[in-house]
Amino acid sequence: MAEYDTYRHDVLVIGAGGAGLRAAIEASAAGVSVGVVSKSLLGKAHTVMAEGGIAAAMANVDDRDNWRVHFADTMRGSQYLSHPRMAQLHAQEAPARVRELEAWGALFDRTADGRILQRNFGGHRYPRLAHVGDRTGLEMIRTLQDHGIHQGIEFYMEVTVLKLLKDGDRIAGAFGYDRERGRFRLFEAKAVVLATGGLGRAYQITSNSWEYTGDGMALAYDAGAALKDMEFVQFHPTGMIWPPSVRGILVTEAVRGEGGVLKNKEGRRFMFDDVPANYRDQTADNEDEGFRYTQGDKNAKRPPELLTRDHVARCIMREVREGRGSPHGGVFLDIAWIKSRVPGGAEHIKKKLPSMYHQFKQLADIDITEVPMEIGPTIHYAMGGVRVEPDTEMSDVPGLFAAGEVAAGLHGANRLGGNSLSDLLVFGKRAGEYAAVFAKEHGPATVNKGEVESAAHQALEPFERTAGEGPYQTQRDLQQIMQNQVGIVRNQGDLEKALEALPGLWSRANRVTVEGNREYNPGWHTSIDLRSLLTVSEAVVRCAIERKESRGGHFREDYPGKDEGFGKVNLIVRKGADGEMNLSREPVPEMSAELKQIVQEMK
Ligand code: FUM
Repeated sequence: MAEYDTYRHDVLVIGAGGAGLRAAIEASAAGVSVGVVSKSLLGKAHTVMAEGGIAAAMANVDDRDNWRVHFADTMRGSQYLSHPRMAQLHAQEAPARVRELEAWGALFDRTADGRILQRNFGGHRYPRLAHVGDRTGLEMIRTLQDHGIHQGIEFYMEVTVLKLLKDGDRIAGAFGYDRERGRFRLFEAKAVVLATGGLGRAYQITSNSWEYTGDGMALAYDAGAALKDMEFVQFHPTGMIWPPSVRGILVTEAVRGEGGVLKNKEGRRFMFDDVPANYRDQTADNEDEGFRYTQGDKNAKRPPELLTRDHVARCIMREVREGRGSPHGGVFLDIAWIKSRVPGGAEHIKKKLPSMYHQFKQLADIDITEVPMEIGPTIHYAMGGVRVEPDTEMSDVPGLFAAGEVAAGLHGANRLGGNSLSDLLVFGKRAGEYAAVFAKEHGPATVNKGEVESAAHQALEPFERTAGEGPYQTQRDLQQIMQNQVGIVRNQGDLEKALEALPGLWSRANRVTVEGNREYNPGWHTSIDLRSLLTVSEAVVRCAIERKESRGGHFREDYPGKDEGFGKVNLIVRKGADGEMNLSREPVPEMSAELKQIVQEMK
C-alpha cells in the first residue's frame, strides 16, 4: 500500500502562474478553502515570458480603440477558429482586469497625463498593450502573489500531479508527489482548476522552461476531457540563437513594437516582401511610415514586422532556408537603428527594453543599443488545450476547470501577442469563480483508493526495473522528432514518420529505469514527464495530419492554402474506451448576430 499525506480543499488549483493565481484569488474571495499546487517554486512561471504587455482595449493611447476592435483583431489573428464567445468575453473584460491589477499594486509605465501606457504589438490595430518596460509578466506574477498570499490560500510548492481522481464522472481531487522528498500527496477537492501552462518542452528549441511538459493537458485527457486545436503550436518569431546555451530564450515582441526591424544578411528588410492580403490595408509600405507608427503616429500604418507571429516566423524561416540568414541560422533584429531618431538615443532603448538590454549584454556579450541581435523562431505557446465552456471554463468532466495556456478556445489558429496575459486574468478569474460555485453546490466527492494505488505503483515502477535505459535519451529523441518533423513547416511524410515513431518512444518510456532513491531525483521526474510529453505530442501530430491546409501556426507545405471546410471546424481528441486517441471534427461555434456584424464592419 502506498503511503501518502492527505489534504482537503473545496477548490484545488494546479499551477501557480498568472491563471492559477488569479483563479485561486477569486475562489478564495468567494469564501471556499483553496489549495494551490505548483510544480516549481512560487513565482517561477511561463507568465513571466510574456514580457511586452497585457492586451486590453483601454484606449489610453488611441481613443479609437474599444472591445469591438480587440474582438475583431483576435478573431482575425485566430483565422476565425477562436470560440467567438471567449473572444468576446476576453475583449470586454480585459480592461477591468488590468485596472484591478493596478489597484492591487502593479506598477505600469505611464502616459504623459498619468494613465497606463499602451504599446503596439503584432496584429493589434491600435496600441493596446499595458506594460511595465519589458517585464510585464513578472510584474503581474509579483502582484498576484502579493495579493493572494494574504487571502489564506494554502500553497504546495514543488509538487507534481500524477493523476486526476474521479468519483464516477465528477472530479474528486488529484494525486501527486513532492519533488524534494518524493513523498506522495493526496488532494481531495470538490473542484479542480488546471492552470499548468503549455507543452513547449516537447520541442528542442523553446522559450518554455523545464516545467512545461503538457501535464495539465495530459491529465485532463486521461480523465476523459476533450482536447481541442492541438495542431496549433506557436513559434514566437524572435528567440535568442547564439551562443547555443541560450538558444530559444525569448526576445520580446516589444522590441519590434518599439521600432525594431528584421533584416537578412544582405541588410534588407525582407518583411516588406510578403504582406498577406488581409493585412495589406493596415501595413506600411515604407520604412518611415512604419517607424512613425511605432512612435505613436495615429495616421501611420504598422510596419510589416508587426504582422502576426505565424507569418513573421515563416518569413524568417524562408530567409534562412534560401541562404539569406545570419551566421548562426537566424536573421537580424535591429533596434539600435532608432537611436538617431528618438530623443535620448541609446538611453531611450535601455529605458523601454531594460531586460532585453541586460539579457543580451550578460548572455551574449552584445550591446543592443549598438549592434543588431541575432534571432530565430522559438516554440512559445500552445493555442490548443483542454476544451472548456466559455463562460465558466469547465471542461467535459464535471468539476474540472481549466484556464490560461492549458485551455483552448480563445486563440484558435494563432494567438496575438499580449492576449496571453489578458487571457490569464479574464479566464483565470472566471475559472476560480465558477469552481467555487461548483464546490458550494456539490458535496464532497469520494476518492477511489484503487486509482490512488495504481497511480503510485505506476510512478514507482522505474525504480523496480533492473535493466533498461534512463529517461533522458527518450525525451531528447521525442524533442528532435517534434522539432524536425512537426515544426514550423510540415508535410504529410514527416508527420507520418513522427506518428510512426511514437509507439516506439512509448514503449521505451514504459521500460525506463531510474537509479537512486525518491529524494531529489531528476531522472525520476523526467521519467514521469515523459508520459505527458508523449500524450500531448501524439495529439499535436494526429491533428496536424488531419488538418490538410495551412492556417495560423499550422503550415503544411503540401497544402499551402487555406481550405474553406477546415476553416469551419476545430479538431478534437479524446481518449477512447480502448485507450486509443480518437480524433473528430467539431463545427466552430456560431457567432451571435452582434459579433457577426462587428467582424463584418472591421473586415
Ligand atoms: O514577446 C512577448 O513579449 C511575448 C508576449 C506574449 O507571448 O504574449
